[in-house]
Amino acid sequence: MTLQIGIHDIAIATGHYALDLALLAPVHGVDFDKFRVGLGQEVQTVVAPDEDIVTLGAAAAQQILARHGSEGIHTILFATESGIDASKAAAVYVQDLLGLPSTVRAVELKQACYGGTAALQLAAALVARDPGGRVLVIASDIAAYDLDSSGESTQGAAAVAMLVSAEPAVAVLDPVSGVFTSNVMDFWRPTYRSTPRVDGKLSISVYLDAVEHAWKDYEAKGGHSFTEFAAFCYHQPFTRMAYKAHTRLLEINGCAATPPRLEADLATTTHYNRRIGNSYTASLYVGLVSSLDHGEDLTGRPVAMLSYGSGCVAEFFSVTPVAGYRDQLRADANRSLLAAREPITYDGYRQLRMRARNGSDGDVAFDTVTTGRFRLSGVSDDKRIYLSLAR
Ligand code: CAA
Repeated sequence: MTLQIGIHDIAIATGHYALDLALLAPVHGVDFDKFRVGLGQEVQTVVAPDEDIVTLGAAAAQQILARHGSEGIHTILFATESGIDASKAAAVYVQDLLGLPSTVRAVELKQACYGGTAALQLAAALVARDPGGRVLVIASDIAAYDLDSSGESTQGAAAVAMLVSAEPAVAVLDPVSGVFTSNVMDFWRPTYRSTPRVDGKLSISVYLDAVEHAWKDYEAKGGHSFTEFAAFCYHQPFTRMAYKAHTRLLEINGCAATPPRLEADLATTTHYNRRIGNSYTASLYVGLVSSLDHGEDLTGRPVAMLSYGSGCVAEFFSVTPVAGYRDQLRADANRSLLAAREPITYDGYRQLRMRARNGSDGDVAFDTVTTGRFRLSGVSDDKRIYLSLAR
């Protein structure tokens, strides 16, 4: 019998502050509609000084452990573009913060926004080898571009945690996937930079070409036919990008990309991303959670997934929700999570960015701002100090 491997549980977390893009628009000398309509973004998460990819990732994963415990988890795969250390894996800090046993394998993966999908596929392979085991996948990122650059409107922060197992309670990860890799310079971040270099226009056209190539590889490998998909989730650097990508996919498949068709296929996947912003590795999976939380019953119906990481690697695959998946969702908690963020003024946001620690500037203790369970209390002797607070 073929093993059914997939997502047993999925949870999201985001940062403390919410910056309304209506406050950013005048600073950039543009109408808010450029962001709201042109990019499909209204609000972006801004992290507090005592939050980072580790605290966000641990906050997402903790929800899964609270429900399922840690039994059987033998590996943590932590995907991120915004790594905090060029050597030590963020997964090791998470192992400690979550109190997971020392017998857990903990590593970090990188390929821009694609890393979360690489982690999910590797997790499935590990579970295939040992079907009694479980793998904790975490995708966590803080998307920050240079101040006053055009990328600033596409910032954000979030983490997604997924428990991957055989007999999944949320969705089966379908076995076929189409992949595309090409060495292009559309977005990259050398280790000496805290913000990426980006060629925005090129990144959009490379993303669209990658959709086409990954889909063709998927088709060639005998995946689902286009008409079988009940929903579509895309990596969303900004939600309008999903519309551009889906337009390309519809056209390749001989379908008219009419506004009603685009809305019908995509509206449910954009609710959270529109108010969180880009979250790089987490973005596609925030879009999946949004689809599951807001969509019709998708039991037994494949959901198309398109992962894109600049540089670039893309993958087209699908997940199929299983009977009872709706009982596993946290829709109310997810909406509350977004609503609970503290609004921040533009000046407040700018001050935070100016003060952001870029390393090698001595010891620092951060004010307690986050109301989350995990916080970065400071840095001493270049060592990050994390606290877990029982709340
Ligand atoms: N009302 C409605 N729409 C308006 C408007 C208004 N008043 N003013 C402008 N617009 C529209 C424009 O027509 C345009 O729409 P189309 O793309 O459909 O033509 C849209 O708003 C954006 O306008 P611009 O192209 O002028 O915007 P920009 O120069 O500020 O650049 C960007 C946008 C390239 C996305 C930039 O924000 C950027 O570089 N972001 C970072 C890179 C990025 O997100 N790339 C995406 C693909 S790469 C990827 O996916 C990996 C990743 O996560 C980074």
